[in-house]
Amino acid sequence: MFLRNHWYIAATPDEIGRDLLQRFILDEPVLFYRKKDGTPVALADACPHRSMPLSDGALIGDTVQCGYHGLEFDGSGACTKIPGQTNIPPRCRVSAYPLVEKWRWVWIWMGNPEAADPAAIPDFHWNDDPDWIPTGGRFYIKCNYQLLVDNLLDLSHETFVHPSTIGNAAVAETPVRTESDDGEVRVLRQINGQPAPPLYVALKNFTGNIDRTQNITWTPPTNIVIESRSMPSGSNDPDMILEYRVLNGITPATATATHHFWATPRNFAPEEDVTKAFHDGSVRAFSEDVEVLEKQQAMIEHQAALRGRDPTWIDINADQGGLLARREVKRLLESEQAHRA
Ligand code: FES
Ligand SMILES: [Fe+2]
Repeated sequence: MFLRNHWYIAATPDEIGRDLLQRFILDEPVLFYRKKDGTPVALADACPHRSMPLSDGALIGDTVQCGYHGLEFDGSGACTKIPGQTNIPPRCRVSAYPLVEKWRWVWIWMGNPEAADPAAIPDFHWNDDPDWIPTGGRFYIKCNYQLLVDNLLDLSHETFVHPSTIGNAAVAETPVRTESDDGEVRVLRQINGQPAPPLYVALKNFTGNIDRTQNITWTPPTNIVIESRSMPSGSNDPDMILEYRVLNGITPATATATHHFWATPRNFAPEEDVTKAFHDGSVRAFSEDVEVLEKQQAMIEHQAALRGRDPTWIDINADQGGLLARREVKRLLESEQAHRA
C-alpha cells in the first residue's frame, strides 16, 4: 500500500537525541535515538519477545533495554542480552532502517536496505544553502498522504483556503500548464498583472499589480518543491523580487495519518523579523490546509462506511497534476509488488 524503496523524511535532526522516540512511518512503528557518538538509529519498535514497544524501555549506552522482560538490542537490531539465559536465538532481533542526514532533515529507507542509495535523496538543497534563509516545521495531519499531495499539486485552493495570506482571486482564475515526464510531474502557473495577496503585500510592500510564478515539481513518491517568484509588473528591480521555495517531504504515518515536513527557504531579506513573519505566515496557511484535509478525510471515511466503497469523485482541469502523480504511484507500487513476488 506504500512505496517502500524510496527515501522519506523521518524527522528533523533535533528531534532525534538520547531520548527514545516512537514515530509511525508507512504503518510501521519505528524507534529513533542517537548513539553516544551522535549516529542516529532507527529500529522496528516492537520487541520480538512479546511485542512491547521498545520505545517504552530504556537507553543504556548505545543499547535499548525492553521495559517488560529486559531483553537488550544494539543499534543494528541484534539482541545482545536475554536476562537469565546465555543462549540468544539468531532470530531474536529487530529490523534496523538506514538513515541519512541531509538538507537538515533525517531521511529513512523502509525498503530493501541493500537498495538504499543516498544519491537518490531528492534535491532539497535550498534548506541547507548559504544563499537561502530557511525556516520550517512539521505537521501531523489525520489524513491519507495522497490528499496532501493533491493539495500541494493544485494551488487553486489558495484563493479559497488562504485568502488572508497567499491566496487571492487571481490564483484560481489563472489556469495551469501540467507536464509529466521521467516520472516527474510539473504544474506551472504564471499570473501576470494581478494584485498581490495579503502576505506578499506585508512582506514586500507591493502597491500595484505583480507578476507571480508558481512552479510545482513532484517527484515520487511524495516530494514536492514549489518555486515561487513574484515582482511588480513591468519592474526589473532585483530588490523588489519576492522569491522562495516551499519544500514538502510528505511521509505516510498510517493509511489515515501523515507527517508533513515543510520548509520555506527564501533568498531575500535575511533579517530575523522577516523570518518570523515568513514562518508565521507559512504556519497559518498550512494550518488552514490541515483543517481542510482532516475534514475531507473524515467525510471520505464516513462516505465509505455508508456505501461500502470509496466515494466517486468528479475531476476538474486543476486536478491533472494530482491525477498524474497518483497514476505514477500506482505504476511504481505495481512494479514494487511484482519485484517482491
Ligand atoms: S516483551 Fe520485550 S522483553 Fe518481553
Ligand atoms: Fe494550502
